Amino acid sequence: MLSRTPRTLVRPVAWRVISRSHSSHAAPPAFVPGASTSADTEVPYADATQASSVYLPQPKDASPLTAEQIRATTESPPLTPRQREIIDKIIRVDQAGELGANYIYRGQRAVFGLGSDRKTTQIVQDMWDGEKKHIATFDKLITQHDVRPTALYPLWKAMAFGLGAGTAILGKRAAMACTEAVETVIGEHYNDQLKDLKEEFPGHPSIPLLEKVLTEFRDDELHHLDTAVENESQQAPAYALLSAIIAGGCRLAIEATKRV
Ligand SMILES: [Fe+2]
Ligand SMILES: [Fe+2]
Repeated sequence: MLSRTPRTLVRPVAWRVISRSHSSHAAPPAFVPGASTSADTEVPYADATQASSVYLPQPKDASPLTAEQIRATTESPPLTPRQREIIDKIIRVDQAGELGANYIYRGQRAVFGLGSDRKTTQIVQDMWDGEKKHIATFDKLITQHDVRPTALYPLWKAMAFGLGAGTAILGKRAAMACTEAVETVIGEHYNDQLKDLKEEFPGHPSIPLLEKVLTEFRDDELHHLDTAVENESQQAPAYALLSAIIAGGCRLAIEATKRV
């Protein structure tokens, strides 16, 4: 009889050591009635403790944004062609990536919602709710910095939903292996972008804000990755193969989105 060694240790990825104090799931998010994002999801209200809150609808009891915050969220500074290229790629790829994440969790939620595993359904729902904040923020950033969205939007929606639903049909562990692979690539990708932003940029408040938002979202993805590992992603059938295929697909999608 074949036996399988449970793989419960997380691979030592360098960016995992970065501070993990932030989590988008500290409290259930509240959503703006009737408002929807470009990924066809609800728009969450701002949580004042998070950098991205300045891009989200403010709750009634929130203090108004300061003049500096309004500048940071509505103006795009003049950029050199090189700086422009960096900002364009960051925002286009991240908006597309967050669209994909929303549709992966939508697909997983649709499948788990049909079954009796309420715990996994709730875990997937919570991660999806975190992704709603990400896409709502990038919808604002893409307008603010006048970045062209990817032309591959409809393709990514269909592929991401299929990936989410397909892995959920294979079971909870396969769904979590999908989350682990995707969030690892996206987390590393956010980290690479943060390095790109270390190049010289104009002294405009939108740039440090973008840096804070990317840091917040990278930490959210790290939290999703940890959730997947805690929920037995590494015990999925054909884990190594599944992870390699999904991570490879994500990297290809990122490269395609940078260009198209
Ligand atoms: Fe995300
Ligand atoms: Fe995520």
